[in-house]
Amino acid sequence: MAHFEKAKSLNEWLDQRIGINTLKKVMQSEYWIPKNINFLWAMGMVLAATFGILLVSGIFLLMYYNPSTDLAFDSVNYTIMTEVGYGWLWRHIHGVGASLVFLIIYIHMFTGIYYGSYKKGRELIWISGMLLFVLFSAEAFSGYMLPWGQMSYWAGMVITNLFSGGSLHADGLVEWIRGDYVPAQAFLSRFFMLHVLLMPLAIIGAIVFHFGTLRLPHVNNQDGKEIDFEESARLWKEGTTESRRKSEVIPFSPVFLSKDVFVMGVYFILFFYLVFYHFEFAMDPVNFDPANGLKTPTHIYPEWYFLWSYEILRPFPTDPGLVAFAIAQVIFFTLPFLDMSPNVAPANKRGAFHIWFWLMLIDMLVLTFMGKLPPEGIWSTIGLVAAITFFVLWISLPIITKLEKKL
Ligand code: HEM
Repeated sequence: MAHFEKAKSLNEWLDQRIGINTLKKVMQSEYWIPKNINFLWAMGMVLAATFGILLVSGIFLLMYYNPSTDLAFDSVNYTIMTEVGYGWLWRHIHGVGASLVFLIIYIHMFTGIYYGSYKKGRELIWISGMLLFVLFSAEAFSGYMLPWGQMSYWAGMVITNLFSGGSLHADGLVEWIRGDYVPAQAFLSRFFMLHVLLMPLAIIGAIVFHFGTLRLPHVNNQDGKEIDFEESARLWKEGTTESRRKSEVIPFSPVFLSKDVFVMGVYFILFFYLVFYHFEFAMDPVNFDPANGLKTPTHIYPEWYFLWSYEILRPFPTDPGLVAFAIAQVIFFTLPFLDMSPNVAPANKRGAFHIWFWLMLIDMLVLTFMGKLPPEGIWSTIGLVAAITFFVLWISLPIITKLEKKL
């Protein structure tokens, strides 16, 4: 068979068997990226790379971690940190990666909101992105249980208690989730399974889905301009300086990819600076005390990336607080449907929506800061106002976008 003639290179050998050149060809001549996008469009690949690093570092940690309530704390804080060669490094990488991945997710989300990248034709990109957000939240929460420190135990207690539904008293549901009356071995075992198996699998599936949703609508651009991809691709392929200048797109590989790689390089300088010099920002000091069901910490709070939604729960009485919290978890899914304006444009060209965007961002920052402070005096009043503002903003979104002038 001519197809299987002696290969002259590894590339040719692989191409004959799995057609690797087809992928290369698609990336070079069929996957087009608009020219007018900035470094914020590299965040998706930065996220994918950070997830890769979390997987690799997690696999190394898994070799020594022990998922038993008696041994988990020591296996992390003693064995991995002091006994295993470079165990500390993998732990710092994993901890810093878990924190930074949320920072980048929020930047990626707010970039999408600012430029209207969730609008007509791109709804599924947004929804699959939100699915990733929820899955990453579950992944981070289940991972936080594993060192079995004081914050693991008490955050686990507080969050699973939410499932009792306040005055509904669904205590049976809480016990079913915990596998016991309080967080104990069954609880740790199932969160261990979620963290190392089910959630990573679901995340990988969701990333593939997210990439798939990008394929037909293509990524948006800085002006929200509707690009004629076919015509622009033809101009690029013509290959003259003039036609390439006229074309509004560039091929993903190697042109856009080289920009992605540059941004990733800058990001990883920051990443490893934090790993080596400031890893403590990603670790709560209270979690360096072993879990103790008889000693409640004076102040229980989640990691920084959950603080805004925690502060939506806290200032209200139990039942309305739970409803508000549940709504806050899912409200961002509805963005493509609550934004009624047909305009795909950067927020600064969209009048009232521009103000909405900044108010939402500032409000979530205020909620985040208040969530970390004890719920006392002025802080709890500010928290309450910020939580109410969050809902007022969502209620006003369809109204202001309906009134928006067509650009
Ligand atoms: C960790 C998980 C994620 C990965 C690996 C990922 C990856 C990517 C990549 C590679 C792109 C294309 C390039 C870019 O615009 O950066 C993209 C685009 C996009 N992503 Fe994500 N993403 C993730 C999470 C999210 C989340 C949480 C959201 C928000 C809900 C989201 C919403 C979007 C949107 C709206 C676009 C389209 C941007 C445009 O058309 O301009 N993604 N994502």
